[in-house]
Amino acid sequence: MSEEQFTPQAPTGTHDVMPPESFRWQALVAKFASMATAYGFGLVHTPMFEDVRVFHRGLGDAAEVVSKEMYDFEDRGGRHLALRPEGTAPVVRAFIQHRPATPFKAWYASPSFRYERPQAGRYRQHHQLGVEVIGSDDADLDIEVIELASRFFRDLGLQHVVLKINSMGCSACRPAYVEQLKVHLQAHEVDLCDEHGERWASNPLRVLDCKKPGCIGVTTIGPMLRDHLCAACAEHHHHVVAGLAEVGVDSVQDDRLVRGFDYYTRTTFEFAATSLESAQNAIGGGGRYDGLVELLGGPATPGIGFGVGMERVLLACDAETTFSVAAPTPRVFVVDVTGGTHARTLVATLRQAGVFAERAYDSRSMKSQLKVADRSGAAFAAIIGEQEAASGSVTIRALRHEADQETLSVEEFLTRFTSQGDQ
Ligand code: HAM
Repeated sequence: MSEEQFTPQAPTGTHDVMPPESFRWQALVAKFASMATAYGFGLVHTPMFEDVRVFHRGLGDAAEVVSKEMYDFEDRGGRHLALRPEGTAPVVRAFIQHRPATPFKAWYASPSFRYERPQAGRYRQHHQLGVEVIGSDDADLDIEVIELASRFFRDLGLQHVVLKINSMGCSACRPAYVEQLKVHLQAHEVDLCDEHGERWASNPLRVLDCKKPGCIGVTTIGPMLRDHLCAACAEHHHHVVAGLAEVGVDSVQDDRLVRGFDYYTRTTFEFAATSLESAQNAIGGGGRYDGLVELLGGPATPGIGFGVGMERVLLACDAETTFSVAAPTPRVFVVDVTGGTHARTLVATLRQAGVFAERAYDSRSMKSQLKVADRSGAAFAAIIGEQEAASGSVTIRALRHEADQETLSVEEFLTRFTSQGDQ
């Protein structure tokens, strides 16, 4: 080990979430949890790491997340593992392992790890709120899942969010389309961007997603998947788009929306926050993955879901100045200048009754404790001096507004502060 100076810091591309900002995170997860519960989803926790094959098979070897960005490693027992780069494949792995009744509806709030170039809104550890429904290809589920995400954003107060939607077709119609696209790309190879000019053949669909002018020019005059969907996929797509409109969710058809993983079939969608830089403005995305369960070794079972990036959603909330969450403040701050024993028992009783109560430590002076009480934002100080201690009473002082202070017996004090309506 070198003796060079070491200043401990969170690793590049990661960040700590500290109070008071973490209260906002807590509120974000709570809001999502309560919505997901109302839509019939149950919380699922999967391990932070999986056998690397879960992602190689599930997401596709060519997916950038797998080929370039995965944190994979061999453990001390020689197992090849990877930190979860996304949340869908692990839930599908858990579904196959546990065989729950279908439709299986899971929600999660968990970190994902991708070795990306860090920048605002792009991290090496980011956090996703997501849902997955496994076991039905009913297009109404596509509508429900998209409507859930859309309502979540609306409830946060976000107004500048665009829902882009597309269909990736299925194993019946997509291969023939990809062949046609390949012929087109080959014919216009010289006009593609540097990267895709060389690599279009390994994943032709990705060229549609390229933002460089060359690729946009070539694909604009090329075949589009939407015109080559089989009748069943076209009907499914129509049902989803029309159904979304019926439940009040506006969507924009985006023929270029090709998401980064191989598992997608039929419906794919992305929510763009137009208040953010376009490179990082996808605040959520998802789609159907009707072949994924089978790909990971389970019985043929369809599925659909989405993931929402918590950091990005909060950036969008900042940009629209919405969803600010104040740190909670104590209802009562116990100031005990007789040694702390009274503070100890009073805060314990109050907290056991669910009341946010604080106190000072280290036997400070009355003045210093009242200063801490004031800084804490507490509504009331409950003061115990020698007199109160001797008579079994507590002096209550309102800290946020002018009011006389009053002295109550300890019993009266506890009754008032632990019962409803003591405001
Ligand atoms: P994804 O589009 O790769 O999809 O990620 C979902 C969301 O996570 C993105 O829309 C974005 O908000 C956020 N996100 C992704 N990468 C980063 C990053 N490096 N830094 C910050 N935020 C990021 C999935 O992961 C799929 N599993 C979604 C899904 C669920 N599809 C079906 N079911």
